[in-house]
Amino acid sequence: MKDERSRVCPVEHSRVLDNGVRAWLQNPRRVLAPHIGEGMTALDLGCGPGFFTLEMARLVGPSGWVIACDVQQGMLNKVREKIHGTAFEARVVPHLCRGNAIGVTEPVDFALAFYVVHEIPDQAALFTELARILKPEGRLLVVEPSFHVSAAAFEKSLALASEAGFVTRQESKGLLSRTALLTRRPEAFRLRQQWG
Ligand SMILES: C[S@@+](CC[C@H](N)C(=O)[O-])C[C@H]1O[C@@H](n2cnc3c(N)ncnc32)[C@H](O)[C@@H]1O
Repeated sequence: MKDERSRVCPVEHSRVLDNGVRAWLQNPRRVLAPHIGEGMTALDLGCGPGFFTLEMARLVGPSGWVIACDVQQGMLNKVREKIHGTAFEARVVPHLCRGNAIGVTEPVDFALAFYVVHEIPDQAALFTELARILKPEGRLLVVEPSFHVSAAAFEKSLALASEAGFVTRQESKGLLSRTALLTRRPEAFRLRQQWG
C-alpha cells in the first residue's frame, strides 16, 4: 500500500502542473468557460498550485466563490501566494482536505476534478461525497491523465460515480486526457430528499 506522499503529486513537482506549455495545451478558460458563470460557487478539488483556480475565480466574478481544496498544505500555500493582493483573494477559499474526505459543506454549482481522481484510494466515497456537495443541477467535470489512467480504469471510476448517483453526459479522449462531464441523477436527489 502506497503512503500518502508517494500517492499524491508532490509540491516540489508543482511546476509541471503550472507552466506556459500546459496553459497552451489545457487552456483553463477553454476548459472552464462552458461550465462556470457569474455568481456561481465552484469547487476545485485537488487544486494543486492553482492552475485552474484563478480562471475559476475570474469566471465566478465578484459575487461568486471558489473553494480550492487540496490534501497538501504546500499546494494551498502556492494558491495563497498567487492570489495575495489580488481581487481573487476575496473569492477564493483555500480548504485543506483531511484523509479521504473533502470536508466541504457548502453546496456547489460546479466541481472540477482535474488529474486527481486516480490519486484518491476510495473513489466510491469520493463520488458519494461529491454527489452530496453538488447542487441538484450542478456539474462535475472529471479529467484524468491518459498517460496514467487506462480506458478500463477510467470506466471503473465512472461506474463508481454512477453508483453514487451520477450520470455521464459527455465523454471524450484527448491527447493527454480522458474527460467526462457528469450531472446528478434526478431520482437520486429526490430519494435523498424523501428519505434523508
Ligand atoms: C496531479 S495534481 C493536479 C492538480 C490540479 N488539479 C491541476 O490539474 O493542476 C493532483 C492534486 O490532487 C491533490 N490530492 C490528492 N488526493 C487528494 C484528496 N484526497 N483530496 C484533495 N486533494 C487531493 C494532490 O495533493 C495534488 O495537488
